[in-house]
Amino acid sequence: MSVVVVGSINQDTVVRVGRIPSPGETVLASAMVRTAGGKGANQAVAARRAGREPVAFVGAVGNDGEGATLRNALIEDGIDVSGLSRVDGPSGMALICVDDTAENTIVVVPGANAVPSVLNAAQRSLVEAAIVVLTQLEIRTELVQEAAALRNTQAWHVLNAAPSGPLVTDGAVLLPLVDVLVVNEHEALDASGVNDLDAAVAALAPRVRALILTLGPRGSLVVCGDERMEVPALAVDPVDTTGAGDTFCGVFAATLGASGRSPQTVDIALLAQAARAGAAAAALAVTRPGAQNAVPTADEVAAFIERTNA
Ligand code: RIB
Repeated sequence: MSVVVVGSINQDTVVRVGRIPSPGETVLASAMVRTAGGKGANQAVAARRAGREPVAFVGAVGNDGEGATLRNALIEDGIDVSGLSRVDGPSGMALICVDDTAENTIVVVPGANAVPSVLNAAQRSLVEAAIVVLTQLEIRTELVQEAAALRNTQAWHVLNAAPSGPLVTDGAVLLPLVDVLVVNEHEALDASGVNDLDAAVAALAPRVRALILTLGPRGSLVVCGDERMEVPALAVDPVDTTGAGDTFCGVFAATLGASGRSPQTVDIALLAQAARAGAAAAALAVTRPGAQNAVPTADEVAAFIERTNA
């Protein structure tokens, strides 16, 4: 298996508003849709649509109708769901507000995502066979740690530290298990516990093989050892930025998986290549509404790059 995503899967309820309400305020929405989402599932879809690589998803849905719908959505994308367990109770859900500037706020009700605290046998087999293990923080941290510790010594662990949380604390055990840490600006500050971005990069980068700091429309910063490279984003008019980071991470991981390289041989050129691929897919994704349904295929990204360069 090339990419195994260990993560969350949610039913997204997305409302379109002129502006995000302030605390205590009520606003009217112009539209509402229900779609498949969840950071982990979105990343699996992005990795799969990026190309020809086999992708598996490890996670949990509830024993409700949403769980079956979410499972089918992954199957339709050709994703191996033998590691998707079904637990008693509701599936995860997310309530998403998207405003006229394409920005969003998201509240996640974890549901089934919060239930498993250990991997089952089928899930362990998938992780052991992975070339890239891609994780986020929308499931229990114990599961992320277990998957990272279980991977083959030649396999990559890419952690997208979203939603954000402290990673640099006394006794923190996750970062030593990470090859590539992907964070946006908020996540970098929260993960490092400092309030300045340069200091956050300085605190995080030496603890992992590589750090990718995503900067939205300003592209990303790739840090690997003593080397740094800025990767620009493609200029677009965004309609919905939900899931843009997920698209980036999924395509980034798929590019590493297809490279034939191991984390021990990582260099900044490979990381920049993967970040460029992720950025192109994410740029196209933000021109479309929704999370999982906005993730482009490799052919769509290729046509988009050609149009952009024309
Ligand atoms: O990153 C976007 C995702 O965050 C949404 O699909 C939502 O489900 C939450 O997990």
